[in-house]
Amino acid sequence: MSLKISVIGTGYLGATHAAAMAELGFEVLGLDVVAEKIDKLRRGEVPMYEPGLEELLRKHVAGLPGSSGRLRFTMDFAEAAAFGDVHFVCVNTPQRHGEYAADMSYVDSAVASLAPHLTRPTLVVGKSTVPVGSADRLAAYLAAHAPAGEAAELAWNPEFLREGFAVDDTLHPDRIVTGVRSARAEELLRQVYATPIADGTPFVVTDFPTAELVKTSANSFLATKISFINAMAEVCEAAGGDVAKLAEAIGHDDRIGRKFLRAGIGFGGGCLPKDIRAFMARAGELGADQALTFLREIDSINMRQRGQMVELARQALGGGSFLGKRVAVLGAAFKPDSDDVRDSPALNVAGQIHLQGGQVTVFDPKGMENARRVFPTLGYADSALEAVRGADVVLHLTEWREFRELDPRELGKVASAQVILDGRNALDPELWRAAGWTYRAMGRPTA
Ligand code: UDX
Repeated sequence: MSLKISVIGTGYLGATHAAAMAELGFEVLGLDVVAEKIDKLRRGEVPMYEPGLEELLRKHVAGLPGSSGRLRFTMDFAEAAAFGDVHFVCVNTPQRHGEYAADMSYVDSAVASLAPHLTRPTLVVGKSTVPVGSADRLAAYLAAHAPAGEAAELAWNPEFLREGFAVDDTLHPDRIVTGVRSARAEELLRQVYATPIADGTPFVVTDFPTAELVKTSANSFLATKISFINAMAEVCEAAGGDVAKLAEAIGHDDRIGRKFLRAGIGFGGGCLPKDIRAFMARAGELGADQALTFLREIDSINMRQRGQMVELARQALGGGSFLGKRVAVLGAAFKPDSDDVRDSPALNVAGQIHLQGGQVTVFDPKGMENARRVFPTLGYADSALEAVRGADVVLHLTEWREFRELDPRELGKVASAQVILDGRNALDPELWRAAGWTYRAMGRPTA
């Protein structure tokens, strides 16, 4: 008999996981406590921009024409408990207001709402990014509050999906990590992931704390790589070097590698910044804070990049005030192929210049609606060309393909001054210079 799967929390992670589980052939029931989200998903609509996700949902949501019918949605925990053999917990763990620590209230309330309905042997699988030690605590909670007692087991199975690649990362993960306490839990997870395992995806079995730590340490490592190259960019600025060449050159050493060494305005989004902060907070609670003090530096290098971009723009405008200056900003999302503006470096830079009196006009291919909501007082244009019209300086802050494919000559005709600042080191300097622009990138004063 094939397993039935419930997915609790249908945000980024949950909606993608639910659709992917249906794609793998399971009957899936997604649960969320927000009615509008459920209504949308039932119509096959995704509440965010994620390439390929809407197509995958529509392929499986029950009631939609031509769908497999394997994916349904509910708001009822009793129904989810009765339905699922395996329950995935995919709710978010944002940064707590005014603190570094993660807010566990959504995870806790998901488990608390599910537990009293768990009357038969079952496996609850946490996927959310949590402070180490949470799984141990939640396992004890389940055993104490589920009518099934110890037979309502817990496992931890962190998710590594990247926004913009969520579908592919979920269907074809580069590794599956499971923290388990019994052979039964491992066996159930091997059944769930039988297809990717058969495709050759490594399946790492470990204990709870290690599974929890894998996620936070992976994100810390990635953040460290980015801040490392941004620190090198600062040195290149001072020494007259070229950080893009430097990254290329050190990247040929396959112990270092080329990926995540693009210097620029740094990392943002809903994961990296809050995960490294929550990790520091948790290490402090465990008495291991010294081990992670370097992450404080990683965080501050990252935040400094935003200010440096603002200063680069100020210099480009003659070094004085932004008052009365027109600044075009290309990009609002924290990265391309996403409409997510959470802790977006691009929007942060745009906001800083605006707050200093600059007339900022933003364009982003997908992030406009979210950006407007967060920063309603910025100017917004319907296209890159309209954002650039009349601008004294143009800032390239999110590396959308669409921006790389812009014709600098066309933009040159409408800009008031032809100065482009590349905050992502992603444009082709030769192309822009050939069209008459002054091109300047972070960490490449002479390039
Ligand atoms: C990240 C992790 O990659 C993923 O494994 C985890 O599950 C969730 O967090 P995501 O938030 O989608 O995924 O973003 P990611 O692709 O890691 O990029 C993070 C930020 O770093 C972006 O703002 C991006 O622009 C920036 N970045 C990335 C750089 O500044 N330079 C680089 O070389 C790479």
